[in-house]
Amino acid sequence: MTESKLYIEGGRKLRGEIFVHGAKNSVLPVLAATLLSGGQCRIHNCPALSDVFSSCRILRSLGCKCRRDGDTVEIDAREISDYEISEELMREMRSSIVFLGAIIGRLRRCRLSFPGGCELGPRPIDIHLAGLRKLGVKIIEDHGVLDCTLSGTVGGADITLNLPSVGATENIMLAAAIGSGETVIRNAAKEPEIADLAGFLNACGADIVGQGTSTVTVRGVERLHGAEYTVMPDRIVAATYMGAAAITGGELMLRGVRPADMYSTVAVFEQMGANVYPYSDRIYISAKKPLNAVKTIRTMPYPGFPTDCQPIVMAVLTRARGTSVIVENIFENRFRAAPELVRMGADIKAEGKVAVIEGVSRLSGAATVATDLRAGAALVVAGLSAEGTTTVSNLHYIDRGYESIETALRGLGAKIKRV
Ligand code: UD1
Repeated sequence: MTESKLYIEGGRKLRGEIFVHGAKNSVLPVLAATLLSGGQCRIHNCPALSDVFSSCRILRSLGCKCRRDGDTVEIDAREISDYEISEELMREMRSSIVFLGAIIGRLRRCRLSFPGGCELGPRPIDIHLAGLRKLGVKIIEDHGVLDCTLSGTVGGADITLNLPSVGATENIMLAAAIGSGETVIRNAAKEPEIADLAGFLNACGADIVGQGTSTVTVRGVERLHGAEYTVMPDRIVAATYMGAAAITGGELMLRGVRPADMYSTVAVFEQMGANVYPYSDRIYISAKKPLNAVKTIRTMPYPGFPTDCQPIVMAVLTRARGTSVIVENIFENRFRAAPELVRMGADIKAEGKVAVIEGVSRLSGAATVATDLRAGAALVVAGLSAEGTTTVSNLHYIDRGYESIETALRGLGAKIKRV
């Protein structure tokens, strides 16, 4: 099968309004949590992303009923017939590891294959497993398969994470929500998506406090029930469209966003000289003058600058005046867009954790390959400002996190099509 490609004719200023869809990194744990609820759930603002479809396939494979109606996904998790996720489904989506906490919490037994490495480098789960073991889960690792059992209920634990891992915080919250004791997670991740998951679990009858801070307390409850919930907006998708506006010298109003979750990203665009005005649920951005370089950007856990936005901002900085430095502190392989951007005429030197970007006055269209989700988005952003035609292949990566990126950008005046 030949895979489709994006064709982008660069050089058009983006203008208009765009509604930002629900957050991939929130909807995936929330869908896993519906299984734990044991009830009927209606989840709104669920984007049509391949990772969301994969989550629904996992839920169905475990016996849940799952149907989509527009951007609402309805899950009936009253009957569960399995506690095992096949290797094939685990491979479709690395973040399927978040089902571990949900299945253990519901059934006290779970078998799934180790997620292994991914495009971003090794994706260890040692912090997840250490936390679950502290909750009393017995975990046997055998030839890449994890066999997990919990005898009795979770009686509470005091868990300090080595690193504020987003996935580990979520898995521990899920595993500890039903039980008899109090679980305290210290050095917890503070990402807004953690608070969103806690919001959904609390709507299902859980008792979680401290989400969004570094100490999350989960008081086990006897049972949960189904709930209706609206997933938060995707702050990385919002940043991508901000990048597209900035690099083309355009003007956009992003709707349906939560600027309060995005201050570190907004600050970077302001340092580039873009005009950014956050309102309660909208962000206006315009870039009427040439962009400036940003001295140093360091990716950090929330509320620091997000690693997922880094490749997108790198793409924008290729066209800024002066030298920018990016230090990537979260994932090893997050500079994979750099060689592709260089093929388009960018001047980037990346070594280890550091990338130095010398702004250039023009990019030229080239045939590029998306190597992961955000690197792919970065190439699209760069292509919008390049002279001539840019093609981006390996679109399955981009489709994991963006709902029809070409339709969204076309609506803003970009010349882009999927062939
Ligand atoms: C989540 C996001 C991802 C984002 C990342 C960091 C989802 C579905 N994905 O990924 O988009 O880039 O947060 O904000 O929400 N680590 C360990 N051991 C572990 C777990 C993590 O060493 O057991 C390390 C990782 O290798 C990485 C760092 O901790 O260097 C952060 O990872 P983590 O916060 O767990 O990211 P994910 O939850 O996988």
